Amino acid sequence: MLTLTAITVRYGDRQVLHGVDVSVARGELLAVLGANGSGKSTLLRAAAGLEPMAAGEVTLDGATCDPLDIAMVFQHIHLVRRRTVLDNVCAGALGRLPLHHSLHPALFPKDLREEAMACLDRVGLADRAHDRAGRLSGGQQQRVAVARALCQRPRVLFADEPVSALDPAASDQVLGLLAELAHEENLAVLAVLHQPSLAARHADRVVGLREGRVALDGPPQDNVDILYQPTTVKAAS
Ligand SMILES: Nc1ncnc2c1ncn2[C@@H]1O[C@H](COP(=O)(O)OP(=O)(O)O)[C@@H](O)[C@H]1O
Ligand SMILES: [Mg+2]
Repeated sequence: MLTLTAITVRYGDRQVLHGVDVSVARGELLAVLGANGSGKSTLLRAAAGLEPMAAGEVTLDGATCDPLDIAMVFQHIHLVRRRTVLDNVCAGALGRLPLHHSLHPALFPKDLREEAMACLDRVGLADRAHDRAGRLSGGQQQRVAVARALCQRPRVLFADEPVSALDPAASDQVLGLLAELAHEENLAVLAVLHQPSLAARHADRVVGLREGRVALDGPPQDNVDILYQPTTVKAAS
């Protein structure tokens, strides 16, 4: 279980997250919804140790979470387009490899290449391992990014709008994959999504943020309209 407790983030004197509590079980795909600027990316970044918190705690299975246990994928995929798909997946392991491997990626050892191949197989792209990454479609590239994340050997997977740049069929495929990884690999998966319909179809649970606070937390069929209504403006008298 990944537990985020009272996560509080300020930029200058502006408070962006106001004590957010969210938990994700291993084996669960949690969708995070909310309007632009509601704090979704900040929550993921803070939980992954990429953003300083004014207060809050992140635990994994009861102990302080090591950021290396969290792998991330993003809307902008950032594969090295001129390298092979397999090299890109191997790069997911750089954080846990000795320095000389990160200086000379050509030295990726055989066992790492085999592990990367297994990760690619997990996302259904083993047959593209030796293609240049830039030749793959957007949906395939995002699946490669997921394989790269798996090669980090994470216990938690964060996906920040992973399908916002993809067409509906590819979006469904990527989210189906994330759900499968949660359920079958016992990962805690937290995905920020723009489309409530995708959350309804794939997520086990939905958390909604509104202006830096949790505004809903429940099964995916919950009415989510409240998240997207503009802040009430006091009527002029
Ligand atoms: N590095 C930053 N410095 C200052 N303000 C930021 C920074 N990052 C995000 N914000 C602000 O924090 C709020 C939440 O941003 P963000 O977490 O990116 O929202 P979301 O991902 O839900 O669209 C926004 O108002 C945004 O402008
Ligand atoms: Mg965002």
